[in-house]
Amino acid sequence: MLARDDRAAARAACEAMFALNGAYNQAHMLMARVMMPGKNYAAILSRLHQHLQPAGYAEIGVATGASMALAGAETRCVGIDPCPRVTANIAARARLYPLTSDDFFARYNLAEELSGERLDLAFIDGLHLFEQALKDFINLEKHSHPGTVVMIHDCYPPTELSAARDRVMAYWAGDVWRMIPLLIKYRPDLDVKVIPALPSGLGLVTGLDAGSSVLEERFDDIVAEFMALDYSQLDERREELLPALANDWQAILERLPG
Ligand SMILES: C[S@@+](CC[C@H](N)C(=O)[O-])C[C@H]1O[C@@H](n2cnc3c(N)ncnc32)[C@H](O)[C@@H]1O
Repeated sequence: MLARDDRAAARAACEAMFALNGAYNQAHMLMARVMMPGKNYAAILSRLHQHLQPAGYAEIGVATGASMALAGAETRCVGIDPCPRVTANIAARARLYPLTSDDFFARYNLAEELSGERLDLAFIDGLHLFEQALKDFINLEKHSHPGTVVMIHDCYPPTELSAARDRVMAYWAGDVWRMIPLLIKYRPDLDVKVIPALPSGLGLVTGLDAGSSVLEERFDDIVAEFMALDYSQLDERREELLPALANDWQAILERLPG
């Protein structure tokens, strides 16, 4: 069906499968493919590394190192993950910290661990809960400069079950999507978009301000407010809450800092 580009039929097939088994992993993944045609997140990250050639790169959530392996040999990388299981061939000058991101930022100064290189690109892909992604963003932004690009994985969950805070299926995005409307509301100075890229969407945040303290100061209130934003709102207001940027390199390029 997707080969014939018949997305309406594929969506109907997903709905039929959900009626039989709401937690059928393959059906949720098919829905993701219906909603997110185009390049996947790794292809976009790879283009970003090639284009930006970041001096410094920080990655929260390393796992096998597949995304860190996209960094170029000259990039100084900091990878943070409490349970890394790296099998990928990482060419970059990388240091790996087997810690949660909170522990890392409590113990280390990111700028020093980057050996003084500027944080040009960061990828948040750790714990799939929005309050953790928010902490990660706050901590990264303190080390940012106006040209820093922050990518946030899992911001475009295609189905309610894939966005559950507790993992139900192998395919899981969690509720990191709440980061997008949250940043749009509380940080109108940022440029915030979502690229609908498989498997679960990539947030793109630019215009960072290392001196901003709004998110930290209002952290508890913001988390309470956005915890109350139900996934059902995405059914009615997806484009308003998760403004999509076309999954197209030219469109992405135009959003990047000059
Ligand atoms: C989806 S995987 C990362 C995949 C990787 N970025 C890639 O694209 O190849 C998520 C990783 O986040 C890690 N993780 C979970 N909680 C974390 C935390 N609090 N801080 C940092 N990493 C965390 C997990 O151990 C897991 O390896």
